[in-house]
Amino acid sequence: MSSSTTSGDGAITVHLHPDAFEQSLRQEVADGLTRFPKELSPKWLYDDLGCELFDQITRLPEYYPTRAERKILETRADEIVRLSAADTLIELGSGTSDKTRLLLDAFAGAGRLDRFVALDVAEATLRDAVAKLSVDYSSTEVLGVVGDFNVHLDQLPSGGRRLIAFLGGTVGNLHPDERATFLAAAASTMTPGDTLLLGTDLVKDRRRLVDAYDDAQGVTAAFNLNLLDVLNRELDGDFDRSRFEHVARFDEDGSFIEMRLRSVAEQQVHLASIDLTVEFARGEELRTEISTKFRPGSVRAELTDAGLDPIGQWTDPDDDFALWLARR
Ligand code: SAH
Ligand code: AVI
Repeated sequence: MSSSTTSGDGAITVHLHPDAFEQSLRQEVADGLTRFPKELSPKWLYDDLGCELFDQITRLPEYYPTRAERKILETRADEIVRLSAADTLIELGSGTSDKTRLLLDAFAGAGRLDRFVALDVAEATLRDAVAKLSVDYSSTEVLGVVGDFNVHLDQLPSGGRRLIAFLGGTVGNLHPDERATFLAAAASTMTPGDTLLLGTDLVKDRRRLVDAYDDAQGVTAAFNLNLLDVLNRELDGDFDRSRFEHVARFDEDGSFIEMRLRSVAEQQVHLASIDLTVEFARGEELRTEISTKFRPGSVRAELTDAGLDPIGQWTDPDDDFALWLARR
């Protein structure tokens, strides 16, 4: 079921209603906290405070991906827009759509963007972004879709020549099997000539990687620990944040950073609304996110396997981050 609202600030379609969101959280927590090792999806990190903390992360000295991707867009947005020949821009996991303004400006310069559609699970952040963008880009129709990019891709508005942007390296937050499923699903919603713009963080020195996910000011730790407050609020839980600590480590074999929450004591946590008691051993960890660091050859192969033809690849001057344009 979906519902739509329109205001002078842009139109919002909700595919993920609060009750469906709650239901999927309940199921995932019941499953993820009763298996070993414990794991939850990173999508639960993004309540209103989580979105605000992520925004702060993007400005931290240690967190290079946002700046690196912005640098690429600053020099390449015109070329990307020209190659895409799109009249419709769709952004997945759009957040504040801050960097996306560089694409929107390039489209405005080329004089041909009919519609911008932003999709995110975080409803308040999405509404705020759509309201601002519909004022700043008033000659483009700006739409927001509250939805899950693993579930609702086939319910995005169709029509036009579409460029689908998935920025920030968020594709790296998917496990390899989820990523293959996502890329195949994205390709199958595209018509020949549509393009995908994909941001991927790249493998680099381990110290820089770990520091980017364990910053000196502790913002990433607060972002990770906020998950426990989300669980307490949504599922009537009694997690004590002071009994968990933030962990960031690089897994060489998987080529991903892992964010985990480590229990500093043996403890029991109760989630009343799903009637679940969870035991944590001292030192036991709950994985809350992976963030994959790619090698260019592997991204090319994954795009090709999904039936997409890479037609452009750009990196920032330090080779920290890559943007890919692939055509269906
Ligand atoms: N694209 C922005 C934001 C990245 S943060 C940037 O490049 O800076 C990741 C965003 O993806 C958040 O806004 C979060 O709410 C959203 N998100 C995470 N999992 C999602 C999912 N499964 N479906 C839709 N949005 C999701
Ligand atoms: C949204 N995503 C690409 C971020 C990342 O770098 O994996 C989320 C994040 N987690 C910790 N810091 C930032």
